[in-house]
Amino acid sequence: MIVTIDGVAASGKSSVSSGVAQALGVPYVSSGLLYRAVTLLGLEAGADLADPAALLPLLSGVRLEPLASGNRVWNDDHDLTADLHSTRVDGGVSTVAALPEIREWVDAQLRALPAPLVAEGRDMGTNVFPHAPHKFYLTASPRVRAERRARERPEDIPAIEAALTERDRQDTTQSAPAPDARIIDTGPLTLQGVIDTILNDLR
Ligand code: ADP
Ligand code: CDP
Repeated sequence: MIVTIDGVAASGKSSVSSGVAQALGVPYVSSGLLYRAVTLLGLEAGADLADPAALLPLLSGVRLEPLASGNRVWNDDHDLTADLHSTRVDGGVSTVAALPEIREWVDAQLRALPAPLVAEGRDMGTNVFPHAPHKFYLTASPRVRAERRARERPEDIPAIEAALTERDRQDTTQSAPAPDARIIDTGPLTLQGVIDTILNDLR
């Protein structure tokens, strides 16, 4: 069984996926972490983030470890996870994610994972696991999402909101909800409320 949870930036995908996966007793995978890892390695190498030929050779040691409690991304024996949510990575990741060669590499990593699992991102239900039997798509207004992010990062809400909105715009191509996804506005719900909505639907 595969459950896909897609949605816009900071809509709650990873927190909700983690809660759903823990309740089901299965791992979850965050596809955004792989795009973020490519971006971080590209930035560290001084590579052109729009050049797949410069990025692909950096990826031979990159591995995603799916865990119900929180995914980790490794480059050989170096854990990159803690460095993947910086403002610098946020600023470059949509450029990397627009590259078809990088998308193919990410998709191959995800499809190689054994089911059951919960997979979250932008195109899990449309492109990577189109035959998944259970699909969800999370939304919330830009302001609500920025207020939530501001609790995690020391930046002001309007700056976060502007960056989120710009990233949504750059990610539009791969971010359409699957026609068979249930769309959930997380704005009026608590985190547990979103998790329970999905678990009730699965039952
Ligand atoms: P994404 O993976 O989509 O970027 P996150 O899982 O990082 O989103 O969620 C962003 C933040 O919003 C987290 O700190 C999460 O706990 C918080 N949050 C607060 N309320 C909710 C809610 N109702 N639904 C989802 N996330 C929420
Ligand atoms: O946490 P947040 O929603 O801000 O981002 P994320 O899910 O970690 O994704 C980071 C970036 O990766 C997005 O802005 C997209 O550019 C890209 N991404 C994608 O294109 N397709 C996916 N399936 C997942 C992420």
